[in-house]
Amino acid sequence: MSRAPWPEGLEHGHRAANPARRIAVAGFAGRGFFGTTNPKPGRTNPAFEGRSNRRFGLTNQGSPFPPMTVALSPIAARRSGPLRGSVRVPGDKSISHRALIFGALAVGKTRITGLLEGEDVLHTADAMRALGASVERTGEGEWSVHGVGVAGFREPRAVLDFGNSATGCRLIMGAVAGCPVTATFDGDASLRKRPMRRILDPVERMGAHAVSAAEGGCLPITLKGARDPIPVVYRTPVASAQIKSAVLLAGLSAAGETTVIESEASRDHTERMLAHFGAELRVEAEGAGRRITLEGQPELHPATVAVPADPSSAAFPLVAALIVRGSDIVLTDVMTNPLRTGLITTLREMGADIAVIERRSEGGEETADLRVRACALRGVEVPAARAPSMIDEYPVLAVAASFAEGTTVMRGLKELRVKESDRLAAVADGLRRNGVEFEIDGDDLIVHGKGEPAGGGTVVTHMDHRIAMAFLVMGLASAKPVGVDDASIIATSFPGYVPMLRSLGGDLG
Ligand code: S3P
Repeated sequence: MSRAPWPEGLEHGHRAANPARRIAVAGFAGRGFFGTTNPKPGRTNPAFEGRSNRRFGLTNQGSPFPPMTVALSPIAARRSGPLRGSVRVPGDKSISHRALIFGALAVGKTRITGLLEGEDVLHTADAMRALGASVERTGEGEWSVHGVGVAGFREPRAVLDFGNSATGCRLIMGAVAGCPVTATFDGDASLRKRPMRRILDPVERMGAHAVSAAEGGCLPITLKGARDPIPVVYRTPVASAQIKSAVLLAGLSAAGETTVIESEASRDHTERMLAHFGAELRVEAEGAGRRITLEGQPELHPATVAVPADPSSAAFPLVAALIVRGSDIVLTDVMTNPLRTGLITTLREMGADIAVIERRSEGGEETADLRVRACALRGVEVPAARAPSMIDEYPVLAVAASFAEGTTVMRGLKELRVKESDRLAAVADGLRRNGVEFEIDGDDLIVHGKGEPAGGGTVVTHMDHRIAMAFLVMGLASAKPVGVDDASIIATSFPGYVPMLRSLGGDLG
């Protein structure tokens, strides 16, 4: 196969090892971090200032974090031969965070298998320790948590550092809001830009108090939890599982019923896990959404949680297999909770060949093995109402749409503007750099697919793992390679992503 030139700004082959990276690799020894991606010496990204030191194997107690600069880790993907094989992507991120949090709020020992050992979840494990739970890694993906009971958190001695993770930060804000402790929440430069008022508003109604918050209600935030939290009826302003979960977690320590109403159903892992740990709750349909009522002050019983493979991570090899000619892969044990499968519905409407070859049920969640074969895709219209069930999948759907014939209209993407990056802008920029025609109309993204994008561009990831992963998928099938400026951020949710794509036959380096 003749090798296309590398995208501008990237080089192929060995690069001199760089001290920052050597520390990074040492910090991740045994965790299956890339190990094979090399940073470009001398290129650094000011956006990383204030980013957590976790990935560098250094402890970072006593934030505010000292300013630091991190070497970028660029990588590119080039057109590959057929992808073949069977893979299990890492454990679901949403369930992994929740398993640690509910384990910490139960009395006794919870066992978790298949935990996602990505940076985001490791920050949650650290936070649970800082709040008094005993959290231990007993094997690969195997963890045990000795919980302190509902409302049993102790006051942390240092700032809680959530790195890049809004899920960990927002859910734990909810849990802390219901305990008589004061804690300071902080994170990296990306997390410091994300809106936290959406959590502070409801928990302040419940009696917690934000002692201090950065401008605009952003991190760092010091939150004083309520000694006697007030049960509330709260209607979420956007369909967000993070807001819903924060209110329910605060409501655990309130006497009486806490109710959350959402106008559209968002992922329901918190509700399922509350029931799994022995809480009493009712879930009723309300219009197109749901009303969830939790009976406060339960004793949560320790449980066993088997974390299924993350459908949001499976989305990347899944789309790769659809667009790389001749591919035929199997993704095993993928969670198929209907509130997470909007991407599969959409891709099938586009003509995708995705077969469910085995269905199971594990720890209160459905899973399946998916066989995915390459095929032609056509443009479709994706309704706004589907967004909550595929909110993290739009970057990779935009990639699929750029390989389709015809126009794909993705409606109602307002929430994408407040994810790890302004994802709508980051996706648009990546498409532009790789010769894909598109428009943004208000909150809608419209991609004009022509069967095969040109590629050849280097995409700016803006500290957003899903932007990096999505555009590497594009490069596996576009005419020219596609580069991303920083692959190290992928470790927040998908350690081993690049080796996984390589194991299927992807050409990345
Ligand atoms: C998550 C909820 C979603 C999603 C995030 C994980 C969760 O965020 O984007 O990756 O685990 O609750 P929102 O609830 O803000 O939509």
